[in-house]
Amino acid sequence: MGYIKSAALEETGYVVLDRYNQELDPKEWLDIEYNDWKSSGDTRFAPLASAFGAIECNGFWNHKPPRTDKDGVWIDSQIEKAPNLTRRAQEPGANVGRCRVIELQPNEYADTLYNLHQDDNNRLNPDGTGWVVRGFFNLTDDATSFFVLRENRTDPQGETRIALPAGAQLIVDTQRLWHAATHPGPDPRYCLITSWESGPELDAYIEKYNGVNHVESVEVPQDVLDAGQAEQSRRLAARAAALAARGQAENAVMSEA
Ligand SMILES: [Fe+2]
Repeated sequence: MGYIKSAALEETGYVVLDRYNQELDPKEWLDIEYNDWKSSGDTRFAPLASAFGAIECNGFWNHKPPRTDKDGVWIDSQIEKAPNLTRRAQEPGANVGRCRVIELQPNEYADTLYNLHQDDNNRLNPDGTGWVVRGFFNLTDDATSFFVLRENRTDPQGETRIALPAGAQLIVDTQRLWHAATHPGPDPRYCLITSWESGPELDAYIEKYNGVNHVESVEVPQDVLDAGQAEQSRRLAARAAALAARGQAENAVMSEA
């Protein structure tokens, strides 16, 4: 039967929507409660919706009973402090699984390439229902930051780098695309990440905000790209060697966010 997916994401795995006027809204992400959750990079997360409404970020399949990343429970104490973020996450009307704000400390392009990962969005997702993708709403005005997307983790060919000013809005099939953010800083970056179920509601939302599935990549000097690629190779090889010495496979220890 197969999953219901968005035609808009079929070719490239992402769409960039119209920019949101972030300046009009209060900085709600500074008021909500964060917990430490190791993802790609030095991060903390503040959940707005979680498996059972607690302030935690675990995959829904790690709870009892295990279930897929849908039907997230809104956390009253958080959404009271962040009504605009909640409204934006709910605006498409698509089923929401996890919804949280990520806080990312500064990093470099080479770190990003090492941090590239795919999300485990569709574990236990029943065949014939909507494929889970993620929305990324950039909250801080990170003028020099960009989201890196690759079809293949180690292949720079076709890499897309999407700018992250305040109000940038992306929807990404993060189970398909390898992804991570480059954030030079100096301050932390904040971004609202929402798991949405694909379907007519999400399609209508993408259309309403003029989603485009190709954007110009942020320019990065070739020597920085090359150095980042070399550093990714070096770090991945070092990690593989360390894991081999401990008798573990890499995917046994990769964290997922
Ligand atoms: Fe991710």
